[in-house]
Amino acid sequence: MKLLEGRPWERPELTGQGRVPPSATLTRPRISLNGRWDFALLPRPEAPVREWSSIEVPGLWTMQGFAPPQYTNVQMPFDERPPRVPENNPTGIFRRRFPRPVGERVVLHFGGSEGALFVELNGEPVGIHKDARTPAEFDVTELLEDDNELVCAVVQWSDASFVEDQDQWWHGGLPRDVFLYNTPREHIADVFARGHADGRFEVDAPGEVRLLDPAGRQVLDGPGRLGDPLLWSAEAPHLYTLVVTLGDDQVSCRVGFRTVEIAGRQLLLNGEPLRICGVNRHDHDDRRGRAVTRELMEADLRLMKAFNVNAVRCSHYPNDPYWLDLCDRHGLYVIDEANIEAHAYYDDLCADPRYAAAFVERVQNMVERDKNHPSVILWSLGNESGYGPNHDAAADWLRERDPTRPLHYEGAIARDWSGGHRATDVVCPMYADVDSIEAFAESSDDPRPLILCEFSHAMGNSNGGLADYYAAFDRHAALQGGFVWEWIDHGIRVGDHWAYGGDFGEARHDANFCADGLVWPDRTPHPAMYELKYLAAPLDVEHLGEGRFRILNRNRFTGLDHLRGEWEGGELPTSGEFTLDVGDREHVTMRFYDGEHEVAWRQFELIAPRAPEVRPGEGSKLVDVLDGPHLQLWRAPTDNDGLPLYPGRDVGPLKRWLSLDLDVPHRQQATPLDGGGWLYEHEVEVPEDLPRIGVVLTLAPGLERLEYLGRGPWENYPDRQASAMVGRYTSTVTDEYVPYIAPQEHGHHGDTRWLRLTREDGTGIEVRGLPTIGFSASHFTAQDLTEARHTSDLRPRPEVILSLDLAQRGLGTASCGPDTSPRYRLSAGTYRFGYVIQQLGL
Ligand code: GAL
Ligand code: MG
Repeated sequence: MKLLEGRPWERPELTGQGRVPPSATLTRPRISLNGRWDFALLPRPEAPVREWSSIEVPGLWTMQGFAPPQYTNVQMPFDERPPRVPENNPTGIFRRRFPRPVGERVVLHFGGSEGALFVELNGEPVGIHKDARTPAEFDVTELLEDDNELVCAVVQWSDASFVEDQDQWWHGGLPRDVFLYNTPREHIADVFARGHADGRFEVDAPGEVRLLDPAGRQVLDGPGRLGDPLLWSAEAPHLYTLVVTLGDDQVSCRVGFRTVEIAGRQLLLNGEPLRICGVNRHDHDDRRGRAVTRELMEADLRLMKAFNVNAVRCSHYPNDPYWLDLCDRHGLYVIDEANIEAHAYYDDLCADPRYAAAFVERVQNMVERDKNHPSVILWSLGNESGYGPNHDAAADWLRERDPTRPLHYEGAIARDWSGGHRATDVVCPMYADVDSIEAFAESSDDPRPLILCEFSHAMGNSNGGLADYYAAFDRHAALQGGFVWEWIDHGIRVGDHWAYGGDFGEARHDANFCADGLVWPDRTPHPAMYELKYLAAPLDVEHLGEGRFRILNRNRFTGLDHLRGEWEGGELPTSGEFTLDVGDREHVTMRFYDGEHEVAWRQFELIAPRAPEVRPGEGSKLVDVLDGPHLQLWRAPTDNDGLPLYPGRDVGPLKRWLSLDLDVPHRQQATPLDGGGWLYEHEVEVPEDLPRIGVVLTLAPGLERLEYLGRGPWENYPDRQASAMVGRYTSTVTDEYVPYIAPQEHGHHGDTRWLRLTREDGTGIEVRGLPTIGFSASHFTAQDLTEARHTSDLRPRPEVILSLDLAQRGLGTASCGPDTSPRYRLSAGTYRFGYVIQQLGL
């Protein structure tokens, strides 16, 4: 291929060639080129094609059996320094034919490419594009024949790889739609529309303009002002349709009326301060990699809305434009982020003049494509690329081009929260602890609000302390929320488990650090999702005392009238103050529904739990207890206890725990009780902060049915239990398993009054707390979970492993971020606890 001569993949100044300037996504008829293409994977760009195979487009050769993907976080997958890349440089050659399309002018569109893209048509060079996650468009009119042969080379490693060093799998291929579209010679090259909250409508477009309201009625025929626009917000995402006509050319796009501004240390939408209940989302599919389908994007959108998420950061690159259509239509606030991350050369490339064009153009590629989407409320200059002149150049261009949206860039404040004003209008740190953000709110005079661009690292059993962040957001107007890291576990389906770094035999990788989402790769929610849903709920309830309650509407633009409220005693209002006849109930539990969908729930404890009375007596044999109770101070390390599968990272307490002698002084006494039970009492001296304080018992096989009165139904830990209501739940031991991609501690239920593990016939074991105890019931021991690297390594034991915990250390988020707050740690000291075990039947 001529375009590959002279090693153009090692020239950062060459960001592209022959492209149509980037422009907004406009609705036009398309001729799809998706489908089966001829394909050859070469070891180097210069290598000849010896044999053709075939591949699915959109698709990645790293997910279709040609070569494995590779996962690295900060480090590059190779040693060469920018702009040099290895000689062994996988290059995919994609080839297909298509007949001459009708039309005066024909444009060839690639939605993205994983690797630098080089395109040839009928043996002639067409062009080059290196920004993997924005479209490459080429005017191919002059090269068309009746029967056309299109050939593209996707070169995996290039100068661009150094600015695409995001924490994710490295792939190769064509992950997005490829199509042609035609226009008349005189055509609409671009449209830029801006609808403001005061009804002003500005539009840059050639030809005639018509604006249609949500009902399809024409309301404007050019720039102007609407009397009473229906405003766009995530809560009420009203959309208008813009139609532009120039001679025979016609395009349309959705637009919205809304104003984003920063004023008084707040990010305002339509004058109202936002509460950002956000998540970071990568494109990821466990079988297709970064080639995500529309169905999957729709599933993500539905799930986010169902879990009260109202904002998404497109970490760390512009997603498929369909994602933004969904956010516009269904209502999610978006931080759109330019495809720039130079993590391995953090301070270098942002100041490297050879990369200046790449920085600026990547921002332009994003802004030009996405500028009409009302959901985009902040532009991000990229991620983890230091802060330098290349950012300032991009920021200066952007402020000029689109004054309607504030800027976001974490790198600009990474080392000094008071700096970086030229490149960011929000103070957007990552993984700051609650104390630091509160200190910022209380003592800084920065005019910018604080929104955490990443926090609460959802790796494995995680998100400890999420409620404390949300409480801080409530206390301070300048703290406007944040984006949990991250939405999806990037596991890749291999056989019966999800693979992570190292599972494809790669020498260089970052283990399971990519399995850090709120949902599994198949979009099943982790338990932590319910905590987020609880905290992000559109309403809250305050107990004013004596059975009097008040509903707080957390929406900014809509009411709660459409909801229906219920409690144990009947119906509930969804606004204002009200009194309930609570009688002598221990709890009041309120649930709020939108149709059948539960949007919020709250529980108030009215009477503290009381210990059951026990009297010494005969006791009876606990035939279903095969072993124990034994003191248990260990838990299968969570990722947040210290990244057990990612050696060398010294985070969390795990390293310390591994060096401890857990053979501590322990006294245990068993007293037979009247009625057949046994009272167990323990006293243990603990030298320092430990994973847990409790005991473990092995129960007979077959005690599969679980019933308990405690916190549930999902697992909960002292720093992640706001959402887990005390109640009476049924489950099975098998269902208590939580399949974190890397097996680890799970399934704990705090504040349990009693639990029963029984057979179908009701025989089994009952445990009562004095007054409460924590527990988990499992077919795995802590040791089984400690040793397994994948869920598929685990073999359920027939017995039931019952852990009873006086206390567990909180989860925290130390895998990336603050360790468990001291108030959820277990300090040194003497601990006493007890419980009653009873055999049920024989
Ligand atoms: C941040 C980064 C993310 C991800 C996360 C850890 O530093 O922006 O891309 O690496 O940490 O999972
Ligand atoms: Mg990074």
